[in-house]
Amino acid sequence: MNQHDRFDPEDHPELEQTDFDRLTAKGVSRRNFLRGGAAAMGLFLAASPLAQAVAAATRTEASKLIGFKAVPASTADSFVVPEGYVAKPLISWGDPILKGAPAFDESGTQNAAAQAGQFGDNTDGMSFFPLAEDRALLAVNNEYTNYEYLFAHQGKQPLTADEVQKSQAAHGVSIFEIRRNARGEWEVNRDSDYNRRITAYTPMELTGPVAGHALMKTAHDATGTRALGTFNNCANGQTPWGTYLTCEENFHKYFASPEDEMDVELPAREKRYGLKSGNRGYQWYRHDERFDLSKHPNEPHRFGWVVEIDPMDPTATPKKRTALGRFKHENAALTIDPSGHVVVYLGDDERGEHLYKFVSKGKYNADNQQANRELLEEGTLYVARFSANDGEIKGQGEWIELTHGKNGLTAENGFADQAEVLIFAREAATQVGATTMDRPEWVAVHPNNKTVFCTLTNNKNRGKEGQPVGGPNPRAKNNYGQILRWWPHNGDHTANRFDWDLFAIAGNPAVAEGLYAGSDNITADNMFNSPDGIGFDDTGRLWIQTDGKYSNKGEFAGMGNNQMLCADPQTGEIRRFATGPIACEITGLTFSPDHRTVFIGVQHPGEDLAPSHFPAGGNAKPRSTIMVVQREDGGIIGA
Ligand code: FEO
Ligand code: CA
Ligand code: CA
Repeated sequence: MNQHDRFDPEDHPELEQTDFDRLTAKGVSRRNFLRGGAAAMGLFLAASPLAQAVAAATRTEASKLIGFKAVPASTADSFVVPEGYVAKPLISWGDPILKGAPAFDESGTQNAAAQAGQFGDNTDGMSFFPLAEDRALLAVNNEYTNYEYLFAHQGKQPLTADEVQKSQAAHGVSIFEIRRNARGEWEVNRDSDYNRRITAYTPMELTGPVAGHALMKTAHDATGTRALGTFNNCANGQTPWGTYLTCEENFHKYFASPEDEMDVELPAREKRYGLKSGNRGYQWYRHDERFDLSKHPNEPHRFGWVVEIDPMDPTATPKKRTALGRFKHENAALTIDPSGHVVVYLGDDERGEHLYKFVSKGKYNADNQQANRELLEEGTLYVARFSANDGEIKGQGEWIELTHGKNGLTAENGFADQAEVLIFAREAATQVGATTMDRPEWVAVHPNNKTVFCTLTNNKNRGKEGQPVGGPNPRAKNNYGQILRWWPHNGDHTANRFDWDLFAIAGNPAVAEGLYAGSDNITADNMFNSPDGIGFDDTGRLWIQTDGKYSNKGEFAGMGNNQMLCADPQTGEIRRFATGPIACEITGLTFSPDHRTVFIGVQHPGEDLAPSHFPAGGNAKPRSTIMVVQREDGGIIGA
């Protein structure tokens, strides 16, 4: 499909306007533009590529989708929602979710057994699984933990064995039942038999093409099929067959080598994942030998995967789905292609890494959910390569297959078999010429199933060697981030080609110029930096969460604390919906099916001992917390 066809309403029904319409509507109405004739046409043709690119995302009319009054930027130690909305904490790090678990004690001296029965730390991606009208399960990632709050000694001492296990129990996934009380408010049911903690030592199955491979075998698992645990669970995905996907991101930080083995030499393909010798902050290697690189060099191969969990069966063994590749997974945006194939879009969040797509071999069967349970076992992984139209920030893209024997993925080039292609997916992506990206974070598929969005959060290294400025990464030293959008050809997610543009270029119109001021849908009233979590509601509102600089100074002046915004993909308008407390990140969102409740994650308030006491206030220790947000009138969120 060519560029003109990209705006064919058949292919892009949500796009009633073209770039041309937007450009003309911005300063001059279309009628005035036409009246202007040749002079105006000259202006249009002379518009700089920059102006044209920025105009592609400009706001042209008040959104019909978004109905709330924007909240201002905030530096307060509170969670602020629009007028007419209420926000309450649902659960905080350390609240008990298993029977018999103790209440949270903020001294930092509770033991591993206590933490293993409590909600993990640093809430991130989450999904809502309905049980009945007023009952549901929440499956929630607990990405990492802040030792300055986890331990009374703030991590400044060598950890004991129990402290290592406590740290491991603060990671992973929490699954718990929620129900509406008599006042219609959602609360945690601590006595539910569904409640479960999955930690860094929960038994898991390694499945798919890599299972049993020599590179997966360790001294503790001669079969290469049984890993222990999951950690650094960033964002998530949800399948139509009722399972939860949790994504392993910065797994490298947990591997280390003891003081007398500081110079373990690692191959380049291991270093590519950030693995290195020497002590790392988490100290797990002190009491869990798996994390000692000098002893177990294959153990890191068992992390960096997407893990599938059945939340309805607390005894089910989580499955690591190796067909989806090994990298620093952000989320897993799953959609069913019209052909029936399951397509999962996957970001690898690191400067200069890549954007991926998995296509299942089998097809989804809506009439037999049990038969769908192995769809993520087998399929084809692809990586994205972008090209840009001359002088524009939009263009075409292609998905390049990462299959052994194709595209140079051969033994001569260092890939012995398909397992090596998947375990070292980053190197495979480089081999096939994938585009280096500005840190791909969450991907979200529009409910029309034809448009896909991905946050590119920031990249201070853009412009350095190997990371050229251009295409979807148009700014050197990109400190603000952008939101990429693409259209698979003919609405076919299995197609190898797509067209792309940038939906928003974050920036600061008050202090910066040119592209660093942001696209025209970024204003002094909605500016933000480092878009990260994104998700659509059923109506097609795009919700955007930030994990950015909260200094509120210099190039970030006026942006305040991290926040959540709402965008109308059709008009381009972006409106600020919520602001978080001091030194937090806003990450993780899920709606109740009636869209009258949204659950929003507040991660690491008060990190690095910043002065937050969220959510309890007073002198309380700050705690990662899920907020429940509703309207006072019980209406639809965002409308
Ligand atoms: Fe866990 Fe890329 O954020
Ligand atoms: Ca993130
Ligand atoms: Ca981030």
